Amino acid sequence: MEFEIKPIAPVPPAEIDFDNLGFTFIPTEKMYVARYEGGAWTDHGLMPVGEFWMHPAAGAYHYGQALFEGTKARLTNDGEIVLFRAGDNARRMADGCRRLMMPAYDEGQFVEAVKQTVLANKAYLPTDEQGALYIRPVMFASGPVLGVKPADEYLFVVFVSPVGPYFKGGFHPIKLKVSKEYHRAPAEGVGSVKAAGNYAAGMYPNSLAKEEGYAELLYLDVNHEHFEEVGAANFFLRKGEELATPSLEDLSILPGYTRESVLQLAVDEGLNAAERDVMLPEIYDADECFCTGTAAVITPIGVVNVEGEDVTIGDGGVGKYSRLFYDQLNAIMLKEAPDKYGWVTTIGKK
Ligand code: PLP
Ligand code: COI
Repeated sequence: MEFEIKPIAPVPPAEIDFDNLGFTFIPTEKMYVARYEGGAWTDHGLMPVGEFWMHPAAGAYHYGQALFEGTKARLTNDGEIVLFRAGDNARRMADGCRRLMMPAYDEGQFVEAVKQTVLANKAYLPTDEQGALYIRPVMFASGPVLGVKPADEYLFVVFVSPVGPYFKGGFHPIKLKVSKEYHRAPAEGVGSVKAAGNYAAGMYPNSLAKEEGYAELLYLDVNHEHFEEVGAANFFLRKGEELATPSLEDLSILPGYTRESVLQLAVDEGLNAAERDVMLPEIYDADECFCTGTAAVITPIGVVNVEGEDVTIGDGGVGKYSRLFYDQLNAIMLKEAPDKYGWVTTIGKK
């Protein structure tokens, strides 16, 4: 492929401490790149992981035309490499493209790009006990603009990195802080797509929560009446037989595929799975809360701080359904349980 990059030296797999993976970028061998130019996507293919040179007026830099996705490749006990719902990531990126006026990348080609990138870096795939190969598809405006308008050129890139758990400590209850001062994304804004700017906006408020010892913020709607989501994961609250998660109606919340999968598992368990406004006071007598996401998987929530008061959820430990859905989801993802809904794709062997 004709393309100028400055290669980044890959870390040889033998030098990686796979037993202590965090959630940081480790350069692997290959990334997938496609370029949008002259009204069409072109130059699709694998190349060494490297740095791009971009125009100083690139649209991504000042007007934030940038989207990303996150999915994982995992290794089954039989040495098979599996993906979970990667086609849904493709669709979500296409939705984001429409919202940010970026040129959609073909959904089938997106999945193909993910597969090729994983297989080209399979030496970096941890065992399931160690973690997963995190896959980061990203699209950004590389073409120059000055007036506020969509750029004419874009790059689509897929890179991977071996990762351990997103929240320190793995499957353990985390502490969250309810944010009354900051919001993640307004209704009818871009909260429902994976716009890079949503994450930039969350960094400062999140850093304040971290300074106080909380793993993340739990965001509310602008009227501080109901929950929205965690900075990088969806939110669930169970009381008795009802498992509720905030509805997606006002377009402020990211429609997570882990969220959708858990709603399905909840129905299968005979729970009343509800997508509705989950009101702030419900936190005081919740039986359990957890958050869901590709990176977070299912992370139990032990404590939620509301206006300075630490509210312990249930007994502060891992809730019954947090554990059940964590186990069920992992079993499906690793082909240890039937894949009733066609969520898992086997793409090769290590
Ligand atoms: N909410 C936000 C803001 C996220 O960034 C993510 C992660 O992608 C999620 C929710 C969970 O989405 P998914 O389960 O599709 O990974
Ligand atoms: C994911 O769960 O894949 C995400 O994209 C969350 C993240 C910002 C690490």
